[in-house]
Amino acid sequence: MKLKDLEFKKFISAEKIHAKIDDLATQINSDYKDKTPLFLPILNGSFMFASDLLKEIKIPCRVSFVKVASYSGTASTGQLKTLIGHEESLFNQDILIIEDIVDTGLTLQKIIEELRGLGAKSVEAVTLLRKKTAREKDIDVKYVGFDLEQEFVLGYGLDYDGLGRNHQDIYKQVIKG
Ligand code: IMP
Repeated sequence: MKLKDLEFKKFISAEKIHAKIDDLATQINSDYKDKTPLFLPILNGSFMFASDLLKEIKIPCRVSFVKVASYSGTASTGQLKTLIGHEESLFNQDILIIEDIVDTGLTLQKIIEELRGLGAKSVEAVTLLRKKTAREKDIDVKYVGFDLEQEFVLGYGLDYDGLGRNHQDIYKQVIKG
């Protein structure tokens, strides 16, 4: 598949994604069985993952989609903005951030700091994908779907310059040469 100037090939199938989501949901249902967590999916990238994950969450919970504008092209800019759009009060809540992918972890660290500052009772994160950089930097993510190297991926909510979010599978960039 070609998008703009880049070539992508299928990497993680929709079936594998759904099997992994079942595992993640089982862990979360068990860990939070005595709590009423507030899920904060980070838009835009996590919309598909959040939708499928939340269908498997069987405990009482709240959901509030939020946004952090921070990224363009295939490399993190480091230009992080504040969390916007949360409708629920975050004070004294058990918050579970839903991310599509953690790369440098800058986005997640910033969000976690901000949520703690707002008085959240606990803050954890679930991400579908985690890149090598985040593992090396020991970024604190409690629930991880798939560990990647440094490949650039799209599909299942993830984009390349705004394109490719609509695919049900995840694709990775083909590096030529
Ligand atoms: P971080 O702050 O470097 O961890 O970047 C996290 C954000 O960058 C994610 O929420 C994505 O929006 C974006 N991102 C990082 N890697 C990729 C990728 O391979 N494909 C698409 N978006 C990515």
